[in-house]
Amino acid sequence: MHSIATAPMAWKDLIDPVAPQIARMEPLGGRVAGVVTRIEEMIGRGGASSLRRVPSAGATYPYEILLVSPASTSVVLVDLVRRQVVARAGDCFDVDADSYACLLVGRPWLSMRKYGPRGYLYHLIDGGHAIFDLALLSVTEPPPGPGTGLLPGSHDTVIGDVLAAGRITAGAPRSSSRWRLVTTADAHVQSGRTAFEKWATRISPPAPAPVVFDRVGNLPGQPERAVTARRSAGSFTPGYDTEPLRRVIASGVRCADSALEQLNLPRPVVQVTGHGAAAVTRPPTDLLAALGGQDHLIGADAYVVIGVPTRGDDTIDHRRQGLLIAAGVVGQALYLAATESGAAVTGIGGIDPSAWNRVLPAGQQALYLIAVGGSADGEKFDALHPGSHG
Ligand SMILES: Cc1cc2nc3c(=O)[nH]c(=O)nc-3n(C[C@H](O)[C@H](O)[C@H](O)COP(=O)(O)O)c2cc1C
Repeated sequence: MHSIATAPMAWKDLIDPVAPQIARMEPLGGRVAGVVTRIEEMIGRGGASSLRRVPSAGATYPYEILLVSPASTSVVLVDLVRRQVVARAGDCFDVDADSYACLLVGRPWLSMRKYGPRGYLYHLIDGGHAIFDLALLSVTEPPPGPGTGLLPGSHDTVIGDVLAAGRITAGAPRSSSRWRLVTTADAHVQSGRTAFEKWATRISPPAPAPVVFDRVGNLPGQPERAVTARRSAGSFTPGYDTEPLRRVIASGVRCADSALEQLNLPRPVVQVTGHGAAAVTRPPTDLLAALGGQDHLIGADAYVVIGVPTRGDDTIDHRRQGLLIAAGVVGQALYLAATESGAAVTGIGGIDPSAWNRVLPAGQQALYLIAVGGSADGEKFDALHPGSHG
């Protein structure tokens, strides 16, 4: 497909798929197996479940994980869905290094194909959720030495923006029955980009500054304990006790503040709305419209509104990108604090911002909410629905 902008589709575009060039497949062994298992435990799938340890707008997970071994400039792809590490034939990737640099690389198109340009915002918020969990790796086991040289020598081999980087220590060598090593004859381990994805990259702003995630020490509230159990609630039942709810939200915000400081990220505005004592302000009167018609979300006891300044020009610069990543960091800290206390929680991006701006200080725009309360059963429409929630 040479130009999606000027030429109609041709017959060969339909019948000639670009097949991945697989040279070899084998079980994954060596110390790198320990590293991918640690990453999987934080942001991958749990056991046989297709659900991931981190939430994502519309379950699109718009980023990739790459590993770089210190001795080489080659990168491998960590495919968290198929549980495979993809290396290039002839690269001689070292599977037995003491530690690896781990890169979180954005793929905004995966979210933009569902949500349009707003998908670029979601990919940074989703990235922030994942960065928070990756930062928990250094809470449990600090990385060796100073965090220099995280990016591969031949940085141009990475396709996409590096949103975050950090060094991860390898444990003892182990072979993983679940993970395999795939060697590809393709020029890049990050294959599978369509012409649409390349086009979306062209309209995206310049890359944000990468967040270094391996320098985070202890965080208040021990959020690492809740990573495995985290889920988004399908719907909410009102009536979660006010005092515990206040404590849950306060503990999540405290943890987020510490993480943002250690990750060197700016702090977005955070305001609690609801009818209980936890709330600073009341939610909008027409709650259903404010939630973009998502009736499964109206029963929450509190909505934590995360906002950013509206003032200034229209440029998407480093500071603004940092605030969007920070919104995801705050979101993940709240998810884990709620999970630890048995409260139901869901991130909400499909909102009418004008309705929520009224509960924020003047000059702030609502971006993202975290609903907290009592859980009720229900389907997670956001993941099932192929269309956009806004
Ligand atoms: C940035 C962001 C926006 C989201 N927006 C909504 C939303 O508007 N409505 C909703 O029901 N869920 C929303 N979610 C939750 C996702 O649907 C959920 O994370 C995804 O379906 C995966 O399910 P899980 O979190 O239970 O693993 C959002 C999550 C994120 C991170």
